[in-house]
Amino acid sequence: MPFRHYIRAVTTPSPLPDPRVRPQGTPGVGGLVDRHGRTATDLRVSLTDRCNLRCSYCMPPEGLQWLPKVEQLTDDEVVRLVRIGVEHLGIREVRFTGGEPLLRPGLPGIVAAATALRPRPEVSLTTNAIGLSRMAPALAEAGLDRINVSLDTLDRQRFKELTHRDRLPDVLAGLQAAKDAGLTPVKVNAVLLRGINEDDAVPLLEYCLEHGYELRFIEQMPLDAHHAWTRGEMVTAEDILARLTAAHTLTPDVEERGAAPAERWLVDDSGLTVGVIASVTRSFCGACDRTRLTADGQIRNCLFAREESDLRSALRGGADDAEIADRWRIATLSKLPGHGIDDPSFLQPSRPMSAIGG
Ligand code: 5AD
Ligand code: SF4
Repeated sequence: MPFRHYIRAVTTPSPLPDPRVRPQGTPGVGGLVDRHGRTATDLRVSLTDRCNLRCSYCMPPEGLQWLPKVEQLTDDEVVRLVRIGVEHLGIREVRFTGGEPLLRPGLPGIVAAATALRPRPEVSLTTNAIGLSRMAPALAEAGLDRINVSLDTLDRQRFKELTHRDRLPDVLAGLQAAKDAGLTPVKVNAVLLRGINEDDAVPLLEYCLEHGYELRFIEQMPLDAHHAWTRGEMVTAEDILARLTAAHTLTPDVEERGAAPAERWLVDDSGLTVGVIASVTRSFCGACDRTRLTADGQIRNCLFAREESDLRSALRGGADDAEIADRWRIATLSKLPGHGIDDPSFLQPSRPMSAIGG
């Protein structure tokens, strides 16, 4: 099946300027606009850089040097920045990530504070689901709208090899608990690695169809802590689709994709879809609407940004909301048009994915 050709050139400005924003995106008023005409409305907040798994494409088995507690934002500081994003900067979606966000004790309170904001943002979570079977009801109660669970294999031994922990049953129980708590649609994110879990593609799809989860494959990006990623070794969207179409009939989903990174296909006549996020081979930077806050209070305007803007110092130095909002706007202006992974001069960011937030 041919890959649907939906890619905007990375430099194409978004066609509809945000009416709340001054034409050049000058700081002082309006939303988070960059020099390429994009407006960030989707905030990803990393709540911790720690994790209880060690996915080989993310963390070394011995873990990383974790952020000291004093450098980490407190729950109140996180909530204040999310509030400034929503009230001053037009943020409409908030996703909490990690590391592993379920390791953050204050998570239900942070979620409840985010869902109490007006205009109410859509609030979601990306998690490895360990501990979710216990936490899902409290998160639903706090108003959490949706959940994405990372799962790369259904084989217990392979899971252990891939993540250095024997926790597959906890993850599967967590998925079920999310569904039972109504945190739907439950989405599953899978990363395939050449020679390791490529043949999990079809079993993962069948498991998700059976349970009503929405599966999305993500092309592996150069965000591993040990900088071992190579383009040639990456399992591409084409590879993934070839495997899936050998076993199932995929029909392009005609629903408008907007800024959503996944291209989706309807599977057989199940009424369910599978998505592929071709972050590398079909980059969607031209439609990017994201801004990121790290657990230590730095704004990153891109996953691959090489510079960050320090909101924590401003916050702790007594800056008022308007001043912090302005810093965030300025941090957004310099967002680059694309990730440039294919550029010979590409340099991987110094923070790994676990310290940025997915
Ligand atoms: N490339 C692609 N996806 C990644 N993830 C973590 N590291 C990478 C990477 N290098 C995924 C996780 C999780 C989400 C936050 O990002 O599997 O689902
Ligand atoms: Fe943990 Fe997610 Fe990194 Fe895996 S990919 S080690 S679950 S932060």
